[in-house]
Amino acid sequence: MAKKQSLCGFLSLLIIHLAIKTSAAGTPTLQQLNRGFTASFDQSAGSFQPLLSDPTGIFSFGFLQINSSNLDLAVIHLPSNQPIWRAIPGRPAQRSGSAFLSFNGSLLFSDQNSGVLWSTPATAGDRVVLLNSSNLQIIKVAEPIDVLWQSFDFPSDTIVQDQNFTSNASLFSTNQRYSMRLGSNYLALFMEFGRGVEEPMYWKRTALQAKNQIVAGEGPIYAQLSPLGFLGLYQKENAPVDVLSFDSFARGITGFRRLTLEADGNLRAYYWNDTIWVSDYKAISELCELPSACGAYGLCRAEEKRCGCIDTRSHGCLAADAGDLCGSGNDDFWVLRRKGVDLANKEVLGFVKVESLKECEELCKRNCSCWGAVYNNASGYCYEMDYPIQTLLEVGDENKIGFFKVRIMGNRGGRGGGGGGDKVRKTAEALVVVGVLAAVTLAGVGVYRLWRARRKRGERADGSRVEGLAPGPYRDLNSSSFRSIEMFNSFRK
Ligand SMILES: *[C@@H]1O[C@H](CO)[C@@H](O)[C@H](O)[C@H]1NC(C)=O
Ligand SMILES: *[C@@H]1O[C@H](CO)[C@@H](O)[C@H](O)[C@H]1NC(C)=O
Ligand SMILES: *[C@@H]1O[C@H](CO)[C@@H](O)[C@H](O)[C@H]1NC(C)=O
Ligand SMILES: *[C@@H]1O[C@H](CO)[C@@H](O)[C@H](O)[C@H]1NC(C)=O
Ligand SMILES: *[C@@H]1O[C@H](CO)[C@@H](O)[C@H](O)[C@H]1NC(C)=O
Ligand SMILES: *[C@@H]1O[C@H](CO)[C@@H](O)[C@H](O)[C@H]1NC(C)=O
Ligand SMILES: *[C@@H]1O[C@H](CO)[C@@H](O)[C@H](O)[C@H]1NC(C)=O
Ligand SMILES: *[C@@H]1O[C@H](CO)[C@@H](O)[C@H](O)[C@H]1NC(C)=O
Repeated sequence: MAKKQSLCGFLSLLIIHLAIKTSAAGTPTLQQLNRGFTASFDQSAGSFQPLLSDPTGIFSFGFLQINSSNLDLAVIHLPSNQPIWRAIPGRPAQRSGSAFLSFNGSLLFSDQNSGVLWSTPATAGDRVVLLNSSNLQIIKVAEPIDVLWQSFDFPSDTIVQDQNFTSNASLFSTNQRYSMRLGSNYLALFMEFGRGVEEPMYWKRTALQAKNQIVAGEGPIYAQLSPLGFLGLYQKENAPVDVLSFDSFARGITGFRRLTLEADGNLRAYYWNDTIWVSDYKAISELCELPSACGAYGLCRAEEKRCGCIDTRSHGCLAADAGDLCGSGNDDFWVLRRKGVDLANKEVLGFVKVESLKECEELCKRNCSCWGAVYNNASGYCYEMDYPIQTLLEVGDENKIGFFKVRIMGNRGGRGGGGGGDKVRKTAEALVVVGVLAAVTLAGVGVYRLWRARRKRGERADGSRVEGLAPGPYRDLNSSSFRSIEMFNSFRK
């Protein structure tokens, strides 16, 4: 009996060994995960612990340490250690010894203490494989193979060559502040502010439909990154309705390609040249035109790629805000004005034509979803921002005038949590005076939520300054447009 067992053990060991392949990183990795597979996170395994390899050994699926405290599942491009897919569980996984991955027909990412953190939909899969395209699949062994789930349908911040990006999918930047989605005839980038703010668009590519038309009723369009160096928008296979070609288009480059929505909000394409990722496309070419190039209430000067603040009186810009200004009487703000400012995303924002600056301001002042507006005194166009103020462009044209709301806090300019409690008190007192007792609770809860959301945003906003932009006040500068700001300041005072 014992002999039989040890023989069985030997045979299964042999089988496991045959199934093991040494990956490029020199770590033995499985080529498929069978039902019943379980692997625990190993804290000593370095930043990436491979579990499953593709046939070429270029891609690997395993545990990825995101930072000192959190863990995720990821598909990695091994030569560059670049994650190209991540599971992104709703509750972050702690980087502790108790995290594990299992496969019982569906993939489960769990923690012994907190249970299942992420899983694929319940399926009766036979095995998990990683294709040479980097696509992670749960398959049912049949003729032909039945794909029950694939990572290509659930991209995180990246799509790779030959991956279809459909209207069902979204890309989210790793900091979750930006997203990419398809519309009926366009591809667009959006800012994400969470509850209470409809995602504002900041970049849009409408299908040119030069060679092929989008036909209504023939299904949604999808995007596909071509190994030849372009992003095609298609309604039917082989018949693009639009082509965004990259710098390396048709240059015979065979390097693996990816398109990533990055933490600064830009969409960039890259190919791997065996040493580095070479960028051959970016949706937004001017640093200042990135939605938050200089942070909240920031001002970006294109020529010098320099950051300043809309409010020149303070050191550093006003704190990032979140949500809207509804629910607390719509007068909990003060107003900041500045001449010579413009919006980078005004083409996709929409506008109303008004008679005067005053009319533009009134439109925004009355509407608690509105955080500010830019009025063009030459055209009469009024562009409203229904989202917390981000970075604006500094322009020489004094006909472009900005109006910005700033939430009143207990101690103005105070960052972080301090102001939140004061504000709750202030609001509550005001309401008690008018005797609307029921509203107190409601407003209190609302304000507390906004305060919490804002705190969360503030934390996020910190890590995302854009490379290549010099932060700091404009005081160093002495160009003519700087003088115009000073002039406007004295005009305002
Ligand atoms: C680690 O990353 C997670 C998820 O992105 C984030 O929530 C957390 O704040 C980060 N922790 C640290 C210490 O940076
Ligand atoms: C796999 O495990 C999950 C979580 O324990 C469970 O909900 C699911 O029913 C299991 N699937 C199968 C096929 O046993
Ligand atoms: C990837 O796999 C497919 C079929 O599974 C094969 O046709 C193709 O040649 C492979 N590509 C590489 C680069 O190995
Ligand atoms: C992408 O879509 C095309 C057309 O629908 C399809 O033929 C192809 O198999 C898809 N590719 C992947 C990787 O799903
Ligand atoms: C999107 O999802 C719906 C519902 O799951 C499905 O019916 C549809 O085929 C999907 N569309 C695409 C383009 O994948
Ligand atoms: C990749 O690009 C780098 C930087 O431009 C260059 O030094 C290197 O030689 C390139 N590698 C290949 C294989 O072309
Ligand atoms: C406020 O602005 C939002 C977004 O532009 C709009 O949908 C809403 O109708 C406006 N409300 C009023 C009262 O004008
Ligand atoms: C707007 O333009 C008019 C005439 O073009 C000018 O008289 C007025 O002063 C301008 N207003 C502002 C605020 O610049």
